[in-house]
This record gives sequence, structure tokens and C-alpha cells, in this order.
Amino acid sequence: VDSSRDLLSRYLRWTRRSREAYERAKRTLPGGNSREAIFYPPYPIYVKRAEGCRIWDLDGHEVIDFANNYLSLILGHAHPKVVESVKTQVEDGTAYSSPTEYEYVLGEMVEERMPSIEKIRYTNSGSEAATLSILASRSYTGRVKIAKFEGGHHGTCESTMVSTRPPISSDLEVKAVPDGYAPYYVVENTIVLPFNNIDAVERVIKGCREELAAVIVEPVLGSAGVIPAEREFLKALREATERYGIILIFDEVVTGFRVSAGGGQEYYGVRPDLTVLGKILGGGFPIGALGGRGDVMSQFDPTGSPKIHHSGSFNANPVSMRAGIATLKELTPEVYARLNRLGGEAARGLRIVFEESHMKAKVTQIASLFAVHFTGREVYDYRSATSEDPEVKYKFFLRLLMNGVMLTPRGIGCISTPMTRLEVETLHRCASEAAGDLER
Ligand SMILES: Cc1ncc(COP(=O)(O)O)c(C=O)c1O
Repeated sequence: VDSSRDLLSRYLRWTRRSREAYERAKRTLPGGNSREAIFYPPYPIYVKRAEGCRIWDLDGHEVIDFANNYLSLILGHAHPKVVESVKTQVEDGTAYSSPTEYEYVLGEMVEERMPSIEKIRYTNSGSEAATLSILASRSYTGRVKIAKFEGGHHGTCESTMVSTRPPISSDLEVKAVPDGYAPYYVVENTIVLPFNNIDAVERVIKGCREELAAVIVEPVLGSAGVIPAEREFLKALREATERYGIILIFDEVVTGFRVSAGGGQEYYGVRPDLTVLGKILGGGFPIGALGGRGDVMSQFDPTGSPKIHHSGSFNANPVSMRAGIATLKELTPEVYARLNRLGGEAARGLRIVFEESHMKAKVTQIASLFAVHFTGREVYDYRSATSEDPEVKYKFFLRLLMNGVMLTPRGIGCISTPMTRLEVETLHRCASEAAGDLER
């Protein structure tokens, strides 16, 4: 029987070396941490190395990795083709004060997969690319307000750091709630909309059409728990923004090259004006990119007089470029078909596990992404997802980890190409054991 205390003391015993590392890290880093998303109490496991779909921690445990650096490693860890490209590049130098051929080669590959991207510009993170997307929209339209969705996550981007994970009480309307600190001008200039709600979105957009520069949306709410948009919702959003000359930004940091070769825009058949990319595009190395309509992107063109000044010491660095090229080359239609099949199997099996253990749980899934929600309600937006029991989720996550399977602490997972049915079955077996313990 796993009471909370037993579970925690088991974890403390299981992670002696990680605990030492964490204690030392705390002396240097606030809370021992550089990246909030990967923290979970009492402290995370520290990784020693990784290969394929497995990681090994400092205490020597082997764990099957369904988190994949928060959904960014579609080929798993240390894929031989990526390693080979990167090794060659590292020997040839890692960053120059000059461009390389690789940036347009990767750009051509992106534009082939996402025809809405007429021009592309690289950054070192999705957060920076999201920031640029807002800047470009404001500058292009001359308007200041931005609409985003409740539960929508766009990284550490000042303009969108509201209502990412707001506390919910049943009588609260959807509104801009700062994520911790946010300057007053961000809160005042951000309109928060309910995801998958066509009526509300059409009404609000119409109401503030004169002031609205852009609507930024994840085609699948990612960190809120893999909540796919309904097709009609994204189509309505496209129509409403087009009608009033509002820029539609798809944040495809998670969905790009994941839910299909052409990302969410191909999957849903909706063409955004701008697209924010990251994660998979860098093949395991730091990256972000903003792409989209030529007239909007030309604001960055330094050959005229650029409206937006944008640089970055490591933008389009050849290591990330080559890792990205090597990764996209591997992602053939057959590979996607296999990943998606395994994603479907992962979700189906988890639903059976929860049904058999009489747990209130829902599993959301699209292509090779899935998430577990410990709620009896259907999950279709941020609020329905937050109806879950966070304690059950936390215990399930920790229990699963000690059984040798890693999801993110929020119960999100994805398939990587080195995975087979065997790893998916292991996920189901470990989930069943974890659910059994939680039941008791
Ligand atoms: C949808 C979405 N947008 C933007 C970001 C920020 O990207 P990065 O972590 O590369 O800054 C993330 C990160 O998880 C994300 O999920």
C-alpha cells in the first residue's frame, strides 16, 4: 500500500545520488532549477546519459522515456544520423559570424512541409520565436492587443504570460490572470479566450477587432494536457481573424513535424499567417523559428530599412541546423504512420487500464502525443482539464517513474521512433501497477 508518506520515502531511497546532486544544485540555482517545467517535488531525477528511448539516472536506473525532453525528441536520444551530422559540424566549428548553407537548406525543408511559411527566421528557443511573432504582428498591424487562449503556453514570452495556468473557481469568467508577475501593460493588452469555443471567440474578436493585432493559438493545447482543437473551431478562428485583418499565429512548437509532417496546419487544413516553431526542428539542439507570410516577415529584412531589429549570437547556428536537417530527413510518411499507430495504441491501452481499475481518468491523444487526466469529465479545454485530482496525478507520475517509465509530471507523453510495441506494453503494465497501488 502506497500512502503519500510511503511513496515519498521510497522515492527518497530510490534517488540517493539525485538527491545529492539536487542539494548541491540548490546552492547555486534558485530551487536548484533552470527550467520550471522539469521540476517536481521533492526533486527530479538527474540524468547521466540517454540512448534511443531510454535514459539512465545518477542512481543507475533505466527508464523508458515517454517525455522526450518535453515532446521535442521525435527520434529519441542520440539518434545515429543526428549524432553523425553534429559530430562533423562540431569538428568544423560550432558558430561563425557568417551564415552557412544549412540555414536555407533547413528553411527549404520547412517551407516544403508548411506552405504557409513563405519566409523563415531562426531563434534559439520557441519562447523567443513566440516573442517575435507578437512583435511582428503588432508592428505590421499597428494594433496593440493580443488574444491568447486560457491554458495556452507560449514559453517565457512576456506578451503571453497570462492565464497559462490560472486558478479556476466555477463562477470565474475567462479573463487575463497574470502568471505570477506580469506588467500591467501585458495584462491590459491581452484578451484571454476559451479554447474550442467558437461562439465566445467570434463574439470577442468582433468586439475588439479594431485593437487586436493577433490571435495566438496552439492547434493542440500542449502543456495544458494534449487537448486537440476541433477542426471547426480552428476554421472559425481563421475566418474571424481574416475578416478583420487580424494576424493568426499558430504556435506549433509542439505540433510542428509531430502531428503530421506539416504540423497542425496540415492536420487541420488551416493556413495561419505566422507559425512559431521549435522543439523537433532542432533535432535535440536549441532552436526556435518564426515563419509565415512574406509581407509580414519582410519587416525583418535587413536589406531595406528593417522595421524590426533582430539578432542572436547563436541564431541559425550550424549545429542546430544540421541536427534539424538530419531529423526531418528521417521523418517519412511511413515513420509518421508507425508513430501515430503506436500513439493510438498507447492511449487505447491506458484507457483500458483505468477502466479496469475503476479510476476516474481520461486519456487525450492526437497522432503520437497523449496525456492522462484524472477526471471523470470530458477534456476539451483548460477548465475541463483542471477538474482533475492533482494528488492522484502526482502519485501516478512518481509511481510510474519508479516502475521505470517516465511521462512528464503533468501526465503527458509521446512516442519516439526507437519505440516499439514492447515499450508501449511496458507503459500499460507499469500504469496498471501504479493504478493498482493508487486504488488501495
Ligand atoms: C506550445 C509552446 N510554445 C512555446 C514553447 C517555448 O519553447 P522553448 O521551451 O523552446 O522556449 C513551448 C515549450 O514547451 C511550447 O510548448
